[in-house]
Formats: sequence, C-alpha cells, structure tokens
Amino acid sequence: MTDTAPQRPRSAMPAPTPTDTAHTYWEGFYQGLRPPADWVPRPNPLLADEARDLVAGTALDLGCGAGGDAIWLAENGWRVTAADVSATVLARAATAAARAGVADRIDWQVHDLTRSLPVGTFDLVTAQYLHSPIADAPAREAVFASAAAAVAPGGTLLIISHAGFPSWMSEQPPSYLAEQLVPNSVILGWVRNGGGDWVVDVDKVVTRERPGPAGEAGTADDAVLRLRRLR
Ligand SMILES: C[S@@+](CC[C@H](N)C(=O)[O-])C[C@H]1O[C@@H](n2cnc3c(N)ncnc32)[C@H](O)[C@@H]1O
Repeated sequence: MTDTAPQRPRSAMPAPTPTDTAHTYWEGFYQGLRPPADWVPRPNPLLADEARDLVAGTALDLGCGAGGDAIWLAENGWRVTAADVSATVLARAATAAARAGVADRIDWQVHDLTRSLPVGTFDLVTAQYLHSPIADAPAREAVFASAAAAVAPGGTLLIISHAGFPSWMSEQPPSYLAEQLVPNSVILGWVRNGGGDWVVDVDKVVTRERPGPAGEAGTADDAVLRLRRLR
C-alpha cells in the first residue's frame, strides 16, 4: 500500500489464519482500521505520474482499497469502475468520493477477483499493490491474465507492485509476504500468456520514501509496469 501519505492509516498485512478466504481476511483487515470520519484517501504518486498523460476514458482499478487512486482518476476525467473484495473499504471509498465531488464518476463493485471481474473492457486497467497473503502465485497469475483480457485494444495495463521490503525492516520477512514480491518480468509473462499483443512502455523499479511505524525515515522499492495493448 502507499504508506507515505500522512493521513493514510498505517497498515501491514497480518498473517492469515488457515480458514481465511480473501473475503474474511480483507474484511477483517479493514474493519480493524479506524480512519477518521473526514479522511480523504490520497492517490499513489506513481499512478498519477503514469496516468497523467494518458487520454482519459474508461478505467478499471483492481483491488482499489480506500479509493485514493480511483478518486484521482475520476478527478482527472476518467469514468472509473473500482473493484475490491471488501465491502467495508468500498463503503468508505464511496463516502470519500462523494466528499471529493466525483461520486457520479465511479462505480464501486465488490468482487473476489480470483472468481470474477467487472464486465467489459476498459481503456485503462490498473492495479496498485494487488498483493494478498491469500493469493499464491497461480492465483495472482490468473487475476493478472483476467486483468489483461479486460484491456481494450489500444488501452493500457498499469501494474504497480512492492518490489522489496522497507529499509527499516530488520527482521526476516515471513514467507507469506516474501512470496508476494514478484518481478515485473514474471508479471509480464503472466500477461502475455493471457493473449493479446503488448508493447512495454514502462518497466522500472522506483525507490520511494517509506517511513517506519514510529515515523522513522526509510525507503522501499516499487516496481512499475505499464503496457499498451496493440490488439
Ligand atoms: C495491499 S492492498 C492495496 C490497496 C490499494 N490498491 C492501494 O494501493 O492502497 C490490496 C487490496 O487488494 C484487495 N484484494 C486482495 N485480494 C483480493 C481479491 N481476491 N479480490 C478483490 N480484491 C482483493 C484488498 O482488499 C486490498 O484492498
């Protein structure tokens, strides 16, 4: 998640229980966060950098969480469909969108993306930190292949992922988190396996400010993959 925004509630992904599903895990996660009533989620600056120069059309935000990215896209002319498995976080996101004056430009939809995606194709399909301790590599591969299939010809697929752990993290990361760090080359293979003809417009790793839980300075690497679908 994008943790640099000061008003973004701090979070780390806890270990799942053996009986957790994507729904129970992420509902429990978001019900445990208590954002202030007037909280406005901020966009990921990496998303804004990549989307700023695209011609606005229809956008699909997968695993939209608190909605900062969907709201930014709507404010910048996009008509957005935003999907997440947690109805709790979508309700908060919808409230924030209404406060931002873009409620009529965003369709919030509950989906477990391993089972279904919003219907249709989109000029931009985007996923920021679509990591989940519930989703192993085959599950993520299936979701990204479905995401790729939802990109209209001429459209863009933008995937931003964690590429490393924060510099202040001294302990060994648990395996359920470590296995979430998949390089862009692997994600690109997943997309290409799903079909279509793709051009790689951006493939890079960016080091970002990532303060620690006590506010200590730190950085972490994020991977940015921006693909254009030719057909
Ligand atoms: C690490 S958070 C990132 C949230 C947001 N994109 C951001 O950048 O802050 C991962 C998000 O993906 C959602 N998610 C995880 N697994 C999912 C699934 N199977 N179906 C739909 N959403 C899922 C979670 O509910 C959560 O909001």
